[in-house]
Amino acid sequence: MVTVVSHPLVQHKLSLMRDTQTGVKEFRELASEVSLLLAYEAMRDLEIGPVRLSTPLETAEFPMLSGKKLALVAILRAGLIMTDAIVTLVPAAKVGHIGLYRDPQTLKPVAYYNKLPADIAERRVFLTDPMLATGGSASAAIQFLKDAGAQSIKLMSILAAPEGVAVIEKEHPDVEIVVAAIDRELNDHGYIVPGLGDAGDRIYGTK
Ligand code: PRP
Ligand code: URA
Repeated sequence: MVTVVSHPLVQHKLSLMRDTQTGVKEFRELASEVSLLLAYEAMRDLEIGPVRLSTPLETAEFPMLSGKKLALVAILRAGLIMTDAIVTLVPAAKVGHIGLYRDPQTLKPVAYYNKLPADIAERRVFLTDPMLATGGSASAAIQFLKDAGAQSIKLMSILAAPEGVAVIEKEHPDVEIVVAAIDRELNDHGYIVPGLGDAGDRIYGTK
């Protein structure tokens, strides 16, 4: 299942991210803000239960998070900007990292690092990567999470290509995808068009 977060704030900020006039500082800020707005939607089905507490006026039951604990997992390096933002909303979440880069020739993901919470099987996992292009990186990361025992995974991306969405739907039909937009297509170099360019390079100012 794919959820496109069509909220005007998300769409406005995403358009600013696409603009070549947007510099590193603003791009980072926008990526963080969009990530928070995506998390608001992606975490809509978190369980809540009643907790008894006292306001200054009376004691009563109020809703608080009560379900499984959370894990945020970033696909390095661009996914870091998303987990860094989202962890401010859910500070008790544990954070994992999966290091993958996409070989520019083959477009296949190459793994170079990973570190996950030991109890990943007991947590709801929110996997972050701003770009879902061919889907190779996200699919490999999801498989890695499943091999480590993860049972509940949502993929959060800022921008997707139809090809990447199709790959995840085929290879991991149990994983819900939450995105700000699905663009037209991939170009011959595996870039999303119209897209926003190379997310990692725009976040970190590299080229
Ligand atoms: C980018 C992006 C995704 C991947 C998407 O990472 O952040 O991880 O490409 O492409 P795919 O869907 O075709 O696999 P990149 O390899 O540029 O690494 P970086 O985050 O370190 O810049
Ligand atoms: N990775 C990116 O950062 N951008 C794309 O358009 C495709 C893959």
